[in-house]
This record gives sequence, C-alpha cells and structure tokens, in this order.
Amino acid sequence: MMNTVELKNFSTWYGQALVLQDINISFCNHSITAIVGPSGCGKTTLLRSINRTAELERDFTCQGEIQVFETRIYEAKEISAIRRRVGMVYQIPVALPLSIRENVLFGPRYYGVNKRSQLDNIVENCLRKVALWDEVKHRLNQSADKLSGGQKQRLAMARVLAVEPQVLLLDEPCSSLDPASTRLIEELLEELSRELCIIIVTHNLPQARRIARETVFMLDGKVVEYGPTAALFADPKNEKTRGFVSGLYG
Ligand SMILES: Nc1ncnc2c1ncn2[C@@H]1O[C@H](COP(=O)(O)OP(=O)(O)OP(=O)(O)O)[C@@H](O)[C@H]1O
Ligand SMILES: [Mg+2]
Repeated sequence: MMNTVELKNFSTWYGQALVLQDINISFCNHSITAIVGPSGCGKTTLLRSINRTAELERDFTCQGEIQVFETRIYEAKEISAIRRRVGMVYQIPVALPLSIRENVLFGPRYYGVNKRSQLDNIVENCLRKVALWDEVKHRLNQSADKLSGGQKQRLAMARVLAVEPQVLLLDEPCSSLDPASTRLIEELLEELSRELCIIIVTHNLPQARRIARETVFMLDGKVVEYGPTAALFADPKNEKTRGFVSGLYG
C-alpha cells in the first residue's frame, strides 16, 4: 500500500521543551489509523504538524521531515496548499457564524470557485457525504449555530471535504457527542476511508478498536508501538502498551 503520510526523524519543541521525539512512522492510504496515548503525550501536536498548523503556536520549532504523498511539506513554499491537502476536524464542533451553505463553501470560495452550479454541487455532495443533506436541505440558508453538536461536527467535516483533501485528521472528534452521533461519525469515517487517508486521535479505546485498521500508541512524545489494531490490543509487544490498553494510564 502506498504511504500517504510519512514522518522521518521528526521532532518538535515549544521553546526549550522537547514535545515530539524523533518520530518515524508511515500512515496508509484508504485506511483509518488511530492515535492513542495519555493526555499531554503529543497527539495533537503530531496531528497539527502534519497540516502545518502547529507552527502557528508561539515558539514552535521542528526538525526532521514529513512527506505527504511524496511532498516534503516543511520545504513547501505554499503552506495554504498543504493545509488544503491535509484537512483537520477538531474536538469542539465549530460552525462558522454563517449559513449552513456558506459553512460548506468557505474553502471553495477562498480557493476561487465562483460558478453557481459548481457551488451548488459542492454543497449537496459534501452534505450527502456526511449524511447531513436530508436533515438540512430545506434550510441551507439558515444560520449554522442552530444545529446540534453532532450536526455541527458533520458540518465541520463537510467544510473540510469541500476542498477535496487527500488526508483527513481528526482530533477527538466525538468526545462531546452522544453515542448515536458518535456511531454516525464512525460510519462516515469508515465510508470516507475508501477514498482518503484518515488519522484520528481518540481517548476512546473501544472506538479505536471499532474503526481503526492500525493503531499508534504514544507516550511522552514517542511512538511506543504501532501496528494492526486487533494485535496491538490483544497482544501488545511492549510492556507500556500492555499497561495502557489494560487501563493503567490516561
Ligand atoms: N502552544 C503550546 N505552547 C507550549 N507548550 C505546549 C503548547 N501546546 C502544547 N504544549 C505542550 O506540549 C505537550 C503535548 O501537548 P499536546 O496537546 O500535543 O498533547 P495531547 O496528547 O494532545 O494531550 P490531550 O490528550 O490532553 O489532548 C504538553 O506537554 C503540552 O503542555
Ligand atoms: Mg490533544
């Protein structure tokens, strides 16, 4: 399988504090990979390094290399092109203070799409992909604030998909959702993984077991163990992984 996202000897700092330590890992295309590990181990920093948003934080520095489909992203001149190819969905569902329709079109308009028919297609396609179309098709021009948390999270996914990313990063996307919304998002991710590389940070180990083909266990800024999800949970190679999956940490 082709590697979509590959980190080579990648380290990051906030000021003097070393946060990610010499990470070497590859993520597969058309697959969901879960990243698990205790609070503060560097999961969010890792995700945000892959779409070059970590550097928006003060005093962030990094060393080593990240490739996304063979592009060395830290050597790329156009950061906005990287952020377009690598979309990210956050923990708290955020709707922009715009209509439902304009939430989906935010990225496409930014990148210069302006034909009405094309915009209409993007809205319908993306809302269908996240199973929101039937719920909102009669009120596309209403403000998005009125949507429920689960609907806002699906809208956030539609907004990211609207610019046709190759990689989708999700940072605990279900932690504020009820079980039904969570299950719906999981089904959508399984569907989307047919066309994308998906990397999801989750504190919910059963969720990782349900949806991720591979799981990465991180501790103190390092990758401790990485492999097929079933094996990592049932028969971890590393003592620390064994402790974590049996509920010792985090
Ligand atoms: N902007 C920042 N400036 C300085 N230190 C930071 C910053 N963001 C994160 N850190 C530190 O970097 C380390 C890793 O943080 P990160 O948010 O990546 O962890 P995490 O694994 O996502 O944790 P959680 O599970 O709680 O979300 C922590 O020690 C954190 O305090
Ligand atoms: Mg985090």
